[in-house]
Amino acid sequence: MECLERDQGLPLNSPDRAVVSSSPLQIMSTVRTVPTTQETAELSYGGKTFQLPLIVGSEGEKAVDIGKLRSQTGLITFDPGFGNTGACKSAITFIDGEAGILRYRGYPIEELAQHSSFLEVAWLLIHGELPAKAQLEGFAKEVTYHTMLHENFVRFFGALPKDAHPMPVCAAAVGALATFYQEAENEETIHKNVIRLIAKMPTIAASSYKHFVGQPSVYPRNDLSYCANFLRMMFSNPCEEFQLDPLHAKALDLLLILHADHEQNCSTSTVRMVGSSQANLFACMSSGISALWGPLHGGANQMVIEMLEAIAQGDGSAERFVQRAKDKNDTARLMGFGHRVYKSHDPRAVILKRYCSEILDRIGPSHPSARLFDIARKLEEIALKDEYFVSRKLYPNVDFYSGVIYKALGIPTNMFTVMFAIGRLPGWVAQWLEMRRDPDFRIGRPRQVYVGATMRPVTPQ
Ligand code: ACO
Repeated sequence: MECLERDQGLPLNSPDRAVVSSSPLQIMSTVRTVPTTQETAELSYGGKTFQLPLIVGSEGEKAVDIGKLRSQTGLITFDPGFGNTGACKSAITFIDGEAGILRYRGYPIEELAQHSSFLEVAWLLIHGELPAKAQLEGFAKEVTYHTMLHENFVRFFGALPKDAHPMPVCAAAVGALATFYQEAENEETIHKNVIRLIAKMPTIAASSYKHFVGQPSVYPRNDLSYCANFLRMMFSNPCEEFQLDPLHAKALDLLLILHADHEQNCSTSTVRMVGSSQANLFACMSSGISALWGPLHGGANQMVIEMLEAIAQGDGSAERFVQRAKDKNDTARLMGFGHRVYKSHDPRAVILKRYCSEILDRIGPSHPSARLFDIARKLEEIALKDEYFVSRKLYPNVDFYSGVIYKALGIPTNMFTVMFAIGRLPGWVAQWLEMRRDPDFRIGRPRQVYVGATMRPVTPQ
């Protein structure tokens, strides 16, 4: 009860308290039995032939089950960067990288982007089905009423350096939630903590930015939507109330939907790996935020805008930058290009490019983002005709155009990856829950091929 009290800062007899005591969400058990097949793969080694079972996914993807490979043959597999390793079975997100397909729970991303809200998609990812109207209203209400942070967070943010990047601040703050909600994890407390996470993440994100600019945090408001509330917490200050442009809230909602899940990428695999030790939910989400920060992952959206701005402030030549990106002796990379999985196009980038045009039409050609969008389009046009990018199957990824939209919404560059983290949270939660409910769940523990010194004696000096 004490945690609930601290959670909302509401008096114990407040009618709003009823919201937190609702019964736990029925989070569906999402890992289905893996379809079996009579087929096997044959491996010849040491004069013997071994039959390795195959498993097959619901979209026909086949995998060799090497679980018994070591005990049968003494061999392990070697796959740096896990480029061809299935680490789990999952029923959440399907990607066909060759065809440029992305689906959440079977629904095409294009249709969700057109018809759904972020909270609807969050529910879908976590529960497996789109919510009925009453379910969505209940979920939105729960999320709305858990947005406040404990007042001790004021001192928490205050203890960090003035110019702290908001991404590690968010990782630290989300990890710190574990110190406020210490109940043992069971269905009920996990339900509450999932709601708290999704509700408090925008408040944490906005507070981390307010700390960075030296302004007091803005308290959330329960009458605003998820995205409108976030924008207000970002842009209001004690002297001036923020005037919300509904177009901005809608654009943000779309971006969060596109970020919401992307199967076993670096940050999600990190969440699963940390979670496999049965670490606490908040600790796992904090690890996901840290992994997302890297410039080769979510941090690329900040790098893309910095690249576009550097081109705009320099000679403005997209051609010259593409030449640099191809030069192995130059450290420049075409940020926002290339993807481990997508080898034709990233469907999220296609949606965002279209949306960029729409939003910039509304904002007007004199907005600084319009110039950056022009440069981005030029870079894409050149790269998609260039043999280097074509032969390596490098296409714009989600980060290539998302930064231009964030910029158009007035989101500061160092907050771009934080925005990605807000969007990815439901995906991480869904993957974490799925992992815990998987009957084959085991602690993550890869092997290695040791290449260091063989045994040698210590020679006393
Ligand atoms: N610019 C120039 N060359 C590139 C780029 C790029 N953006 N991306 C890949 N290449 C080249 C590599 O140098 C390599 O060339 P080589 O075969 O001559 O050695 C080849 O393409 C294959 O690239 P890898 O780095 O091996 O591909 P990998 O699958 O390991 O990496 C990654 C994928 C990290 C996304 C990479 O394409 C990249 O660094 N892109 C830029 C950063 C970026 O946009 N990250 C966001 C990804 S989306 C996300 O995480 C949300």
